[in-house]
Amino acid sequence: MNTIWSKYVQGTKTLYYTRKLRFNDIFAEQYINLFNLDKSMHLKILEIGCGPGALAGALHRWYPNAEITGIDRDTLFIEFAQKSEKGIEFIEGDATSLPFSDNCFDVTISNTVSEHIEPSKFYKEQFRVLKKGGVCLVLSSRKGINIYPKCLDLCEYEQEFWKKAEQYDNSADKYDVCKYPMSESELPAAMEKYGFKNVSTGYAVIDLTPDNPKFSSEMAHDMINANRQTSLDAIESVMYTMPEHFTVEEVNEMKRITNIKYDTRIKQYDNGEKQWNTNVSIIMVTRGIK
Ligand SMILES: C[S@@+](CC[C@H](N)C(=O)[O-])C[C@H]1O[C@@H](n2cnc3c(N)ncnc32)[C@H](O)[C@@H]1O
Repeated sequence: MNTIWSKYVQGTKTLYYTRKLRFNDIFAEQYINLFNLDKSMHLKILEIGCGPGALAGALHRWYPNAEITGIDRDTLFIEFAQKSEKGIEFIEGDATSLPFSDNCFDVTISNTVSEHIEPSKFYKEQFRVLKKGGVCLVLSSRKGINIYPKCLDLCEYEQEFWKKAEQYDNSADKYDVCKYPMSESELPAAMEKYGFKNVSTGYAVIDLTPDNPKFSSEMAHDMINANRQTSLDAIESVMYTMPEHFTVEEVNEMKRITNIKYDTRIKQYDNGEKQWNTNVSIIMVTRGIK
């Protein structure tokens, strides 16, 4: 059983809720144009490092004729994906040694995974399992815009908590998180280096601004609550990453404060008190052909 990512790096709900928004159907057209896949074909798609399954779920909606498989080495993510996203096969396994024969997929795709896996292994395995003419899609989150509402300002208790956590947290180094970051020019160059042809790049802009009236009230609530969940998971994770430095009482107090603040933000939204906080992600799509 491997639970490294879900326990020490990012919680299951953090990834699922934030990615459900990132791959909401509102943004489908941008992705579909960038992916440039033949929708009419019975495509065999493999998602590498699928996490709890939100992108695989979106692909299932956007390419109803496709046969989709998701693979991740984290057991809890795979169990969650199997329960949450139907019509997709989710398998526990390692992206550096894919349990598939050569030349068997039309498409490989990944979202925010390339920076965590040694590039020669990451690309060579996808090249191996892709059919000739198959498409490799690498999605990578670039620097976006993140403005928080005033009601989420950190109080003194929270500032002290995070100061202490920062002092002792070594999980990024310990688990190779973001060990292989690449710039916007290095990403396509790496794909070419590992044999892919016709490499191209493009960008999707994912604007999550709850107060923008173009979003439904349900989606605005989802945006606020996805951030709430991310904060709660980050607080909880100190119990795994540095249990000797935090007590259950401290963690519970942090969660209580966090919930009050997000409840305030929800109330503001419901009362029409606009805060215009915003979270804009820029998703780079690098595309190459075997
Ligand atoms: C930042 S998360 C992204 C998850 C998912 N793509 C998403 O956007 O929700 C990185 C994922 O890569 C997975 N991962 C990292 N190294 C892996 C490997 N060698 N084989 C399979 N999965 C791996 C982690 O378990 C984690 O789920």
